Amino acid sequence: MTAHSRVAVLGAGSLGAVIARAFAAAGHPTTVWNRTPTRVDRLVAEIPELRAATSVPDALADVDLVVLAVADATAVAAVLDAAGPLGSRVVVNFTSTTPEQTRALADRVGPRYLDGAAMSGTRLVGDPTGLFLYAGAADTFAEAEPALRALGIARAVGTDPGAASLWDTALLGLNLGVLGAFYQAVAIIGGSALDVAEVATQYLPFATGLLVDHGRQIDAGEYPDDDGSLAVYAAAVDHLIATATDRGVASDLTVAVRTLITRAVDAGHADDGLSSLTEVLR
Ligand SMILES: NC(=O)c1ccc[n+]([C@@H]2O[C@H](COP(=O)([O-])OP(=O)(O)OC[C@H]3O[C@@H](n4cnc5c(N)ncnc54)[C@H](OP(=O)(O)O)[C@@H]3O)[C@@H](O)[C@H]2O)c1
Repeated sequence: MTAHSRVAVLGAGSLGAVIARAFAAAGHPTTVWNRTPTRVDRLVAEIPELRAATSVPDALADVDLVVLAVADATAVAAVLDAAGPLGSRVVVNFTSTTPEQTRALADRVGPRYLDGAAMSGTRLVGDPTGLFLYAGAADTFAEAEPALRALGIARAVGTDPGAASLWDTALLGLNLGVLGAFYQAVAIIGGSALDVAEVATQYLPFATGLLVDHGRQIDAGEYPDDDGSLAVYAAAVDHLIATATDRGVASDLTVAVRTLITRAVDAGHADDGLSSLTEVLR
C-alpha cells in the first residue's frame, strides 16, 4: 500500500467524516458510504474529492483499504454482511467494541483485520500529532501503515486484536488524571481558568519528560529518588491537600495518590522514588 492507495470509509458519522476528509486531503482516492445517504451527500458537497458510494459493495469496488467507523459491533456486523467477500483488502475498524466483540470480528475477517483506536478524538484526525493505535498481524500493519499515516501517528501495539482497545482504555485514565488535576488546580488557584491552562501547558513538558525516565525505572525494577523520595512527596502532597481544604476545594484526586504513597511507604519504599508506586498498584 502507498500514500495514494484507494480507500473506502464506511460510516460518515463524527469520526468517519473526519477520517474520510483526512484521507482525501492526503491524496488518497476516497469513497464514502453511510447507512443514511444524506450524511454522505453533505460531506461530498463540502469535500468534492470524495466519491459517494450508493451501497457497501459499491464503496468496496477497487479499494485496497476499508475503514469502518460505525456505532457499535452490531453495526459493524451489518456492514460486513452487506460487504460480502473482502478478498485481499485490509480492514481497519475504529468502531469501539468490547474485547470479546473485537476477537469475534478478527476471527470473522481474518489476518487482514486491524483493530484501530482513535486516541485523539476527532480533533486531530489528519494532523501529524493525532495518535492512532493498531492491533493485528504485523505484516498487515506494515502493509497498511503508509496509507494510515494520512490520519496521523500510526503505531502498532500488538498482534492480539484486543491490544488497541486495551491501550485505549488504560490511557483514558492518563487523560482523565491530567484533566482532573487541572480542574483541581483551577479550583485552588481561582481567577482565570485560561491563565491556569496556559501555565499548566508550560508545566506539562516537565511532567511528560518524567514518563520515559520512570518507564525505564519500572522496567528495571529500580526506583531511584532522583526526583524526590516518597517521604518527600508525602509531605508535599499533604501540603497540597491542606491548601485545597483551607480553600474549601475537594482534593479527592490527590487524596487517592496520598493513599498509594502511604501504602508504598508501609511496604518499605519511603526512600524510593515516585515510580515505586507501581509496586503497590500491581
Ligand atoms: N467521535 C469520536 O471522537 C470517537 C473517537 C474514538 C472512537 N470512536 C468510536 O467510533 C465509532 C463511531 O463514532 P462516531 O462519533 O462517528 O458516531 P456517530 O457520529 O454517532 O456516527 C455513528 C455512525 O454509525 C452509523 N450506524 C449506526 N448503526 C448502523 C448500522 N446498523 N449499520 C450501519 N451504520 C450504522 C451511523 O449511520 P446513520 O447516519 O445512518 O445513523 C453513523 O454513520 C463509535 O464506536 C465510537 O465509540 C469515536
